[in-house]
Amino acid sequence: MLLVSTISQLSNRLSAENRVIFVPTMGNLHEGHLSLMRQAREYGGCVVASIFVNPLQFGPNEDFDQYPRTLDADCAKLHDLVDVVFSPAVSEMYPVQQAVFIEPPSIANQLCGAARPGHFRGMATIVLKLLNIVRPQVALFGKKDYQQLHIIRQMAGQLNLAVEIVGGETVRAPDGLALSSRNQYLDEAQRRESAFLYRTLQHIRRELIKGMSCFEALEAQAVDDLTARGWVVDYVSICNQMDLQPVTHNTQEGVILAAARLGGTRLLDNVEFTFN
Ligand code: PAF
Repeated sequence: MLLVSTISQLSNRLSAENRVIFVPTMGNLHEGHLSLMRQAREYGGCVVASIFVNPLQFGPNEDFDQYPRTLDADCAKLHDLVDVVFSPAVSEMYPVQQAVFIEPPSIANQLCGAARPGHFRGMATIVLKLLNIVRPQVALFGKKDYQQLHIIRQMAGQLNLAVEIVGGETVRAPDGLALSSRNQYLDEAQRRESAFLYRTLQHIRRELIKGMSCFEALEAQAVDDLTARGWVVDYVSICNQMDLQPVTHNTQEGVILAAARLGGTRLLDNVEFTFN
């Protein structure tokens, strides 16, 4: 595994490769990231992981400064899984103040975007920059960030990017909590409580499969249940997988999405479902 920090080092290393598979990350790697790396390997070719905490996708009151930076530990985990790690400084990615941005589709202002204005604009902009630098044939993103994956797919499709976007399944702790770098902000009691988010989504899924079709009542009940246990809920939303618009009676493939805070920690999760 080669660690590089500049775009020119990366380009030199990749110049002779005809197939590149890419996994962008913000580091502080956990099993969810590592399973994406293993999945990347299955596509054949040179596997590149990036580690870059992107200031553009954090709001002024968010955890950019606090976000864990653990490059040495990350490289140790990646050593046998990838060929190249690209870990640029902020000045390498933004040598001048970024003045050109990707304008994401309007769904970027809903769900997580409603609580995080500008987040998806900053995310889409760095993802496009990274794709232009790495020039992969395939790029993988975790399904835990379901809305992010949706927006990246829209961007790649509508801008005719020559890259296949692939989603990786969410990896969970034994109690069901979706793995996330932000889980480490939870104290012991919050960590025990945190698994309730996934249980709530599974409960909704079971009700939907049984035929419960008062979608808004299911969402409202979930918000009440979480709130009663001390969560501050941003949203619980039952949507179509295809466009992340609210589920209708014509929906075949849906997804239940939620974001809620425990103390200062904002957790995300989602569960897909299919009506037969
Ligand atoms: O999901 C993440 O870790 C980030 O949003 C990404 C895709 C690496 C862009 O900074």
